[in-house]
Amino acid sequence: MRAGGVLTRSIRLAADGWAVEAIDQTWLPHELRFVRMESVEDAAAAIREMKVRGAPLIGATAGYGMALAMRRDPSALSMASASELLLLTRPTGVNLRWALEEMTRLLVGSPLEERASSAYRRAEEIADEDVQICRAIGEHGVQLLQQAAAARPVGEPVNVLTHCNAGWLATVDWGTALSPVYRAHDEGMPVHVWVSETRPRNQGAALTAWELGEQGVSHTVVPDNAAGHLLRSGRVDLVITGTDRTTAAGDVCNKIGTYLKAVAARHCGVPFFAAVPGPSIDWTLADPSAIPIEERGAEEVAEVRGLNRSGNIESVRIVPLASPVANFGFDITPASLVTALITERGVCPASAEGLASLYPEHGQND
Ligand code: MRU
Repeated sequence: MRAGGVLTRSIRLAADGWAVEAIDQTWLPHELRFVRMESVEDAAAAIREMKVRGAPLIGATAGYGMALAMRRDPSALSMASASELLLLTRPTGVNLRWALEEMTRLLVGSPLEERASSAYRRAEEIADEDVQICRAIGEHGVQLLQQAAAARPVGEPVNVLTHCNAGWLATVDWGTALSPVYRAHDEGMPVHVWVSETRPRNQGAALTAWELGEQGVSHTVVPDNAAGHLLRSGRVDLVITGTDRTTAAGDVCNKIGTYLKAVAARHCGVPFFAAVPGPSIDWTLADPSAIPIEERGAEEVAEVRGLNRSGNIESVRIVPLASPVANFGFDITPASLVTALITERGVCPASAEGLASLYPEHGQND
């Protein structure tokens, strides 16, 4: 997708062919900077500090992190400690565990002298596969937008409400929830996105708004609290969000605030879809209460970070110093509130049966 007018992926090998560089998302929307990663410790720090974020991109970064570790030391001990370091960076998204299992399975079976090259090859494949998955989600999801367009007066835009950032910045390219939007835009369909700001880190206001603007997609940023009003007043045709982990029964764990949107959407009769790449499905879990919900630092809620009128980035406190603060990163939207899941293999009901129909290799109780 376009960043600063230039086509790029969110993560790629550096020009030297071994280091890894990714868009540093902590500077967006104010500056387009890249973070250079030369070690597994750099990759872990980039994930932990949310320079890279979004479940699929975290998985891809972990793949590259393992390659960097194998380049430095291909021993079994190095492999195990690199995997453990990366796994502990963020707890909720399951793509991280998936990518580490993929890398470890491959590396355990390769001779010591081939481990670095095998790891780089698989890391590149994981990134490429993510692009293909996201593109396919767009191909399936655009049909839902076409259906919504058919129900509207000709020429009027389809209005999509999204939450957090599940666009190309959260993946290697295309995005999940926004992939159908980009596809529709490319096909010439009038489409408008309501962008929910997504306190406390404002991934909607900072990242989703930036990337939609870069691709020329019409959008409006609204405070998180506005979603109910928009849904109730008929200004939303469909809601599409991403997911960090979807259970084998179709329950969707995503950025905090997603659940409230699903509740309001159901109350207002607006369809609610989650865009779900295969590696975001946790086939080991049917019970969503077993998903670890990340709790982050109080300062993210107590302070707001942004560009001041002098052009400098600063943080200002908005909560009384003595007030305790809680910062839950994610919530669960039960399958019963999800109209359907948009996967790379098609659109299916949010249920064990629905997922098993698209992923028969996992069965219903894998
Ligand atoms: O805390 P973040 O910014 O990593 O959370 C991201 C989300 O919740 C996204 O919606 C999710 O990862 C899906 S991204 C394709």
